[in-house]
Formats: sequence, structure tokens, C-alpha cells
Amino acid sequence: MNIAVIGTGYVGLVSGVCYAELGHDVYCVDKDPAKVELLQGGEVPIYEPGLQPLMRSNADAGRLKFTTDTATAIAGAEVVIIAVGTPPLPNGEADMQYIEVAAKEIGEAMNGYKVICVKSTVPVGTNERVRAIIADYYKGSFDNASVPEFLREGTAVQDTMNPDRVVFGTESKHAASLLTELHAPLTKEIVVTDIRSAEMIKYASNAFLATKISFINEIANICEKVGADVSEVAKGMGYDRRIGASFLRAGIGYGGSCFPKDTKALIQIAGNVAYDFKLLKAVVEVNQHQRYGVLDKLFNALGTLKGKTIAVWGLAFKPETDDVRESPALEIVDRLIALGAVPKVYDPVALESFRKVYDDPAMMWCQSAQEAIQGSDALCLLTEWKEFVEFDLAAIEAALANPILIDGRNVYSYEAVKGTGLSYYPVGRPV
Ligand code: UGA
Repeated sequence: MNIAVIGTGYVGLVSGVCYAELGHDVYCVDKDPAKVELLQGGEVPIYEPGLQPLMRSNADAGRLKFTTDTATAIAGAEVVIIAVGTPPLPNGEADMQYIEVAAKEIGEAMNGYKVICVKSTVPVGTNERVRAIIADYYKGSFDNASVPEFLREGTAVQDTMNPDRVVFGTESKHAASLLTELHAPLTKEIVVTDIRSAEMIKYASNAFLATKISFINEIANICEKVGADVSEVAKGMGYDRRIGASFLRAGIGYGGSCFPKDTKALIQIAGNVAYDFKLLKAVVEVNQHQRYGVLDKLFNALGTLKGKTIAVWGLAFKPETDDVRESPALEIVDRLIALGAVPKVYDPVALESFRKVYDDPAMMWCQSAQEAIQGSDALCLLTEWKEFVEFDLAAIEAALANPILIDGRNVYSYEAVKGTGLSYYPVGRPV
């Protein structure tokens, strides 16, 4: 099959590479000439395990190409996938300008029947809007489909090649069979539905996962007060198949480019039809508050933060990515500085991406985990990178001026901590 993918962000690039890996001919489009040049040279602009070798091998095999020109990419395509960004506007609504530009350019370049799919996370009704824009420019026949994406950063290739399910919404039988053929090698669980339901499935899924996280975080906060252990509680709950064990890891709350944006967008979508999504509003509020738990624990342990050097391990919103968008670390570091502390920050891959969005003369940038803890008054672990999980606890204790370990991700076991002199502050587990 010939496929064009518009937008080479996380979703577009990973999807394009994976469709090529399935044996299709894929043309990826991006407006940014520098990015296209980088991709043509075999370089991946994001940190995503496994993506670069797959991209290179498919490009070498001639199945994957990159261009800045939409018309070139879609000329021979049967399926066109729009995967441009929908960043949040100040009011939480998704910004649709890139979708609209993509639709216009596709409309102008249409040269025959194609299935136009939207993979970006978009409000209900967007595929109809895309159809209308294209129809303004192109009078021939074409079909539309909503093909939401469920990949996670850090495991994007694996998620795309082995999805739990593929969902698409379309009113066209022909488009449904074409898209079924395209995705059949990936999974047996293909949900074909109407366009509006497919658009909603994406928001509802992310909102539900965010709800699980905020729920377990509140349980963790109660566990701290009643002397229970949230890890045990989550384990005991997770065996119930109706609940499921995943996304019940308590910590400092969710971040990233998806959950914060999509929860707020869904609240807006509901608001636009005069529905007050109270539950989801609480999920967002709980998540915002959860990150302050780290600061409360530091206060309890140190009395004051003024003049204290605080090692911060982890800046990315989760491991295996350099993405710091909406990372809890941003606000925690900012608060530390506001409270007069000196954060000594380290992350195995996200130092540079963090520095691009946040820099302050009061903070110290460290080149190793060891450098960050050396002589510091406390350590806060904010991202559960393997390197931190495997770090020798005795070495942490020896390096710190005060043996205070705030574990924002519950990565260390009691047995391991017990043998040390560390004052240990996990989330929702008895100290
Ligand atoms: C999320 C969804 O998991 C994907 O299915 C979806 O496709 C994607 O958003 C998207 O909409 O594009 P992602 O944001 O990459 O993927 O990362 P997750 O692994 O879901 O983690 C999100 C945040 O939740 C992270 O900050 C993580 O630390 C936090 N989290 C996750 C917890 O605090 N506890 C958990 O139990 C799980």
C-alpha cells in the first residue's frame, strides 16, 4: 500500500516507520526543512528506543521517504494519515490550526480517491471538519477515517507493532476494509466504529488512565496517614481483572504531552456541550497537587529549604524519553528555587531538553547521578530511570551530607533501605 503521513512528531514518525516495516511504501511530510534533512540523513530528532535502526533499515530498503511537500507525498498514496500536533490553547482546548492547514494542503493536492485519516488526538467532529475543508478544494471522491493512536513514548515502536487494539471510525465500507487490511498484521482486536465514537475513544482512554493514576495517588496519600502501603494495596487490587494491575503506580503524578493536555481538552469538550465533567476536573486537580508532596517531605525532613542543596534525579516525565513536557520536575525544580534551595539536577538523557525550557542561575547542572548527590542535603528521585533504581544505596548514603532520600516513584524496596542509615520518604508507604 502507498501511505502518506503528514507530520513527523512522535506519532507521525513512529507510525510512518512502522507502516514501512510492515512492507508498505511510506512518504512522511514535515513543514520543517531542517527536520526533513535530518530524517533524510538517517537521524531521529527524538529519543525513542529502537526507532532509529528501524527507520534507517526501511529508508535503505526504499520503503520510507521524507519530504517537505505534501503534494509529492500524497500523489501516489491510497491512505493519507494526518499526525500533526494539537497543542493546548490557554483555555485547554486543542489548537486545530495545524490540522486545518494539513487538510487544506491535502485538498489542494488531491489527485484521485484516497482515505484521509486523522491520527492526531482531536475533538469530536474534527474529521467532519477535515472532510469539509478538503471538499472545498477537491470535488472528486474520497473517504475519511478517525484512526486514534495509543502508543506510549519510550515504548512507541513496541506499542505500535503490538497494540492491544486498533480503533478506527469511518462511515465507508471501502475505507474500513482498506484500514483493516493495513492493520490486520498487528492485532486481532480491531474495533471498527463510527467516526465520532473513535474520536471519543481516544480521549476517554487517556482520561481513564489519568483517573487511575490520580485515584491511586489519593489512596497513597491516605495510606501515608493510616500506615498502609499503597504498593501492596495496588497489588491486591490489580489481581481483580475488572480493575487491572497497570497504571496503579503511585508517585508524583502524571506528566507528558498527552494526559495533561487530553484531560483538559476533554473537560473543555464537555463544557462546550454544557456538561460539567466533575470527576475529570478532580483528576487534574489531584495530579497538580500530588507533585507538592515531594516538597512537603523535604520540609518535614529539613525544616527549611533555604540554602539547602537538593539533588534531583530525573527530569523527563518518565524514563526512556528526553521529553520534559508537563514533567512534574519542572514545577518541583521551580518551587525549590522559589523556596531558596539550590537544585542539583541530573537526567541520563533529558538535561538538554530541560535546559531549553527551564534554566535558572540558582540551579546546578550535573553530568552524573553521583555528582548530583555529592555533598547534597537531600536526594529527590523524580523519574524512575534504571540507572537510579540500580544505584547502590550505601553509595547514596555516603555521598549525601544529610542521608535523606525522597523517592517520588517508589523504586526502592524496604529490605534494601533497611540496611542503610537513609531516612527514606516514599509515596504512600509507611516510613
Ligand atoms: C499516554 C498513553 O499511555 C498512551 O496510550 C497514549 O497513546 C499517549 O498518552 C498519547 O495520547 O499519545 P505517554 O504519555 O507516552 O502515553 O506515557 P505513559 O506511559 O502513559 O505515562 C504518562 C504519565 O503517567 C507519566 O508521567 C508516568 O510517570 C505517569 N504514570 C503512569 C504514573 O504516574 N503511574 C502509573 O501507574 C502509570
